[in-house]
Amino acid sequence: MEDNYLTVALGKGRLAKQSMTLFEKIGISCDEMRDKETRKLIFVNEEQKIRFFLAKSPDVPTYVEYGAADIGIVGEDTILEEARNIYEVLDLGFGKCRMCVCGPQPAKELLSGGQLLRVASKYPRIAKDYFYNKKHQTVEIIKLNGSIELAPIVGLSEVIVDIVETGSTLKENGLVVLEEVAPLSARVVVNQVSMKMNNERITGLIRELKEVL
Ligand code: PRP
Repeated sequence: MEDNYLTVALGKGRLAKQSMTLFEKIGISCDEMRDKETRKLIFVNEEQKIRFFLAKSPDVPTYVEYGAADIGIVGEDTILEEARNIYEVLDLGFGKCRMCVCGPQPAKELLSGGQLLRVASKYPRIAKDYFYNKKHQTVEIIKLNGSIELAPIVGLSEVIVDIVETGSTLKENGLVVLEEVAPLSARVVVNQVSMKMNNERITGLIRELKEVL
């Protein structure tokens, strides 16, 4: 957005709440956003010339790449999957979880064998990169949009590539972590042009956030 407001895109949900708590620690607040009943998507702090908007997580890197947001806060999983041209500038250290290959325990041996595996995931790019470039294993990747743990249970795939946080979804569905792909956490991303044009304000903000982490 081309005005003197700094625009921050937040992935809807828990990360957005934790992000706002962090902004409050550096004196930037948006009370309207705390209203649980609100259906508003954009929140402006006129005084501080900053606005926040809530987007679906996978769309945050898109808004930032196109400059509709100067800054975004989103999980590393989404950044890797979307592979947008944006700067990743800060690890916020919250939203910690792991990207893992999971499945029923007996599927473990399939991961070292040469047979064609089916892998279900909401993260086809991450899954492809892991199996093709790191493990050099040919697999068939099946894109799903949620409840990924269902796939090996109902026979859609042998394994899944998905986020594991507490591990309870796996446990309650009789699945286990078979391999770890990558540790994940929330990151701050910045539009490449904004970083040049508005460098002082953006680096200042990042420095302040870093200090309260
Ligand atoms: C995520 C992820 C796992 C679960 C992991 O799903 O895909 O299913 O959380 O968390 P846990 O280890 O603490 O159990 P999410 O709740 O985002 O919903 P989804 O299945 O629709 O992707």
